[in-house]
Amino acid sequence: MVGIVMFHPRFLVAFILSNYLVCLLATAARNGGFTFELIRQDSLNTSFYNANKYYPNVPQSQISAYKGHHLMKVLIGTPPVHIYGIADTGSDLVWTQCVPCDGCYNQTNPMFDPQKSSTYSDISCQSEQCHLIDTGTCSPQNLCSYTYGYGSGSITQGVMAKEKVTITSTSGKTVSFDLSFGCGHNNTGTFNDQEMGIIGLGGGSDSLVSQLGSTFGSKRFSQCLLPFGTDPNIASKVSFGNGSEVVGSGVVSTPLVTKEDKTPYFVTLEGISVGQTYVPFNFSGKVSKGNMFLDSGTPPTLLPENFYDRLVAEVQKQIPMNPIQVQDDADLGTQLCYRTEINLHDNAPILTVHFEGADVLLTPRHTFIPPKDGVYCFGMQSFGNIDIGIYGNFAQANYLIGFDRETMRVSFKSTDCSKQ
Ligand SMILES: *[C@@H]1O[C@H](CO)[C@@H](O)[C@H](O)[C@H]1NC(C)=O
Ligand SMILES: *[C@@H]1O[C@H](CO)[C@@H](O)[C@H](O)[C@H]1NC(C)=O
Ligand SMILES: *[C@@H]1O[C@H](CO)[C@@H](O)[C@H](O)[C@H]1NC(C)=O
Ligand SMILES: *[C@@H]1O[C@H](CO)[C@@H](O)[C@H](O)[C@H]1NC(C)=O
Ligand SMILES: *[C@@H]1O[C@H](CO)[C@@H](O)[C@H](O)[C@H]1NC(C)=O
Repeated sequence: MVGIVMFHPRFLVAFILSNYLVCLLATAARNGGFTFELIRQDSLNTSFYNANKYYPNVPQSQISAYKGHHLMKVLIGTPPVHIYGIADTGSDLVWTQCVPCDGCYNQTNPMFDPQKSSTYSDISCQSEQCHLIDTGTCSPQNLCSYTYGYGSGSITQGVMAKEKVTITSTSGKTVSFDLSFGCGHNNTGTFNDQEMGIIGLGGGSDSLVSQLGSTFGSKRFSQCLLPFGTDPNIASKVSFGNGSEVVGSGVVSTPLVTKEDKTPYFVTLEGISVGQTYVPFNFSGKVSKGNMFLDSGTPPTLLPENFYDRLVAEVQKQIPMNPIQVQDDADLGTQLCYRTEINLHDNAPILTVHFEGADVLLTPRHTFIPPKDGVYCFGMQSFGNIDIGIYGNFAQANYLIGFDRETMRVSFKSTDCSKQ
């Protein structure tokens, strides 16, 4: 029996950086990734975690940048095996490819094998846990089978199971907890061979953050995403629970907005300044609360068409060079791209993102991304005629960002994530 295919109302954008081609499928969407550079040197103050003397055991996972996504490492099973999944604040389900595989994409590392783990157990379809998963249905074997789709067209199908997950903490101790996750036996989509699944970090009850929260008593986490193109052997960190708060000098924060859909982290964007010129989100000056959400799985920032058009016009106006024309390079489509590196000193403005109560500065390294050698494209795109936007992972790079569902705030601190 096949489960109900359900497309989650969040947006998944596939951003393919292979073969020198940037392919942005913003039609319906899910996830992607990118980065950048610090403006303020005070961000080099990396004493934050050590400074947190009240919580010496903050669980942390390593995260590295790979082809526009951010791969998070977790240990699952007994004996434990490494899983590298796409860190995704835009979805909830945690899943990995599992044998036996009815249909899996190629992955370099061995697939998770439930039979080799002594702590693996199937979740029965009558259990409450199966009902929590909104696509859970009964298989003929009475297992909880699920189908989880992303707007990009990627789909994972399999059975919900329970497994022991192990994470190391700041003190070097390991912490373990039981995680409900999807053992994906049939997975299709735009995945590369390093991506062994997706680690949902959204606000819904199935996400890693929520499940960790019920074990450790705190629904908060923070992440520091490395810039696009960083050596994948360099890792930064995602921290969970109490002690992961983003504190110290230079921290700005904005309220999290609660909406019916619990998954995305909604915030309010009032406008973006290009250099000294303010471009309001809505020409009328009024914005609705929660008009953006932060998605570590989507590489570019996607903005409502009307806002994007006004913004990109101002950016272009302030860069004293001619952009590449579509007819010169059809691969780049209608993106704003240049053949010269866009750098701070002589040819590009700083963008100031005005979230409600928090100004976040973006340098050209956040805003101009090289999809291929010698080409630099504006890392923000039109999301079409809709009122909502996505704050993507290019813009999130080199900020320590705290997602705090205890205080209902998102905090930003400019940080060199490679030194974290
Ligand atoms: C695997 O998933 C694809 C797409 O979701 C579906 O068409 C196919 O029937 C599935 N295969 C099996 C063996 O379930
Ligand atoms: C997976 O890898 C095998 C062996 O390298 C190759 O033959 C096969 O074509 C690959 N499949 C896909 C879908 O790329
Ligand atoms: C974690 O923080 C929350 C909210 O600040 C607090 O209510 C809770 O008691 C803390 N838990 C622990 C174990 O310190
Ligand atoms: C680092 O941050 C801590 C806590 O905010 C502060 O007390 C300390 O003075 C800072 N150190 C430097 C070198 O800025
Ligand atoms: C701008 O505001 C108007 C009126 O308040 C509203 O109808 C429209 O949807 C808003 N547009 C965006 C992109 O938020």
